[in-house]
Amino acid sequence: MAVFRIGAILGLLLTGVWFPALQSREGYEGTQSNGLPLRGAVEHSGILIGTAIRPQRLSEPAYAATLSREFNLVEPEDAMKWESVHPAQDQFDFSQADRAADFAAEHRMKLRGHTLVWHHQLSPWLTERRRSPDQLALVLKTHIQTVAGHYRGRVLAWDVVNEAFAEDGTGNLKNTIWYNQPGIGFAGQGTAYIEQCFRWAHEADPQALLFYNDAEAEAINPKSNAIYAMVRDFKRRAVPIDGVGLQMHITHLHSDTLSIARNIERITSLGLQVHITEMDVAVPVDTAGNATTEDLQHQAEIYRDIAAACLRYPGCTAIQTWGFTDKYSWIGSHSRHRQGAALLFDHDYRPKPSYQALRDALQKRH
Ligand code: G3I
Repeated sequence: MAVFRIGAILGLLLTGVWFPALQSREGYEGTQSNGLPLRGAVEHSGILIGTAIRPQRLSEPAYAATLSREFNLVEPEDAMKWESVHPAQDQFDFSQADRAADFAAEHRMKLRGHTLVWHHQLSPWLTERRRSPDQLALVLKTHIQTVAGHYRGRVLAWDVVNEAFAEDGTGNLKNTIWYNQPGIGFAGQGTAYIEQCFRWAHEADPQALLFYNDAEAEAINPKSNAIYAMVRDFKRRAVPIDGVGLQMHITHLHSDTLSIARNIERITSLGLQVHITEMDVAVPVDTAGNATTEDLQHQAEIYRDIAAACLRYPGCTAIQTWGFTDKYSWIGSHSRHRQGAALLFDHDYRPKPSYQALRDALQKRH
């Protein structure tokens, strides 16, 4: 224990980061890794190291302690989505999302908002009744401005629009309630509806950084080409946009890091920021949820390579994982528990090879 206490004091002096885990270590000895926590490792480089969180887990001591010790950026995984914050047309419920925002403020962490406009996790009151484009535009404008307005001054960055482009390899927009089914009045006009959402968000919180966030558009491909064309057009016409979120859900232990780096380079060359917003690296697991040592090592290399690709470009300003403990990750339930172990800490909050590799990459930025 004496060693831990000396370590805590040294850590505090060196990094300026308080380690709440060390205030009451009983019950989760051994969860602390040796060396600087991630947020200490990035302290002088300006990059943010973040994670998605589930506010209902904050009452679990090891969850809260690991989170506040390691990260300086948080984003509610589901708690700011429509079905959570807007359960009835004239009712907003910020209770869960506020827990995340309060935790972030208490622990000197930045907050990312996710997400104002998505076609999933909507509320039944919205999807079960037909509305005209004019009616729907008013509903969406009210939603964006109420939610962004509630967090005005507290959110560093919003994922304003999430996953608007199709997964069919064409670079086309998805057919969604917001675009053309029936849409908010811009059906058939390409990205005009997305532009409108950014303008509404900017009115509600002029200080927040506004991001377009998408999946499977990390490397150069038709989808990322379409997103690049959109954000270049927005930037040229002074549509209020500040960055692109690259989700980075990696499957099959494969990532084309060179191509991802080229994509980061072309986006940041426009004067936009890149945030890696939802990184996880799923691996096959057995029925007990365990992965092989080889796969965990390979996974660690991917974390290191992606972090290094981001760190190469000053405009890539945040690396965020989609959860931090394998105990709570969307991968298991969305893969019939055949995949998992995708994150930085295991079920017992012990750092994995992926953690060490990410930290090594972050420390090289100095
Ligand atoms: O709300 C119910 C709750 O009442 C119920 O008790 C519980 C039982 O399983 O389910 C809850 O709903 C879950 C919901 O998240 C809210 O927690 C759903 O089952 C679950 O499928 C849903 O999954 C989320 C998913 O988005 C929905 O598409 C994941 O947690 C979340 O990690 C995932 O996140 C998305 C990003 O927002 C966008 N990018 C892709 C990423 C991964 O799919």
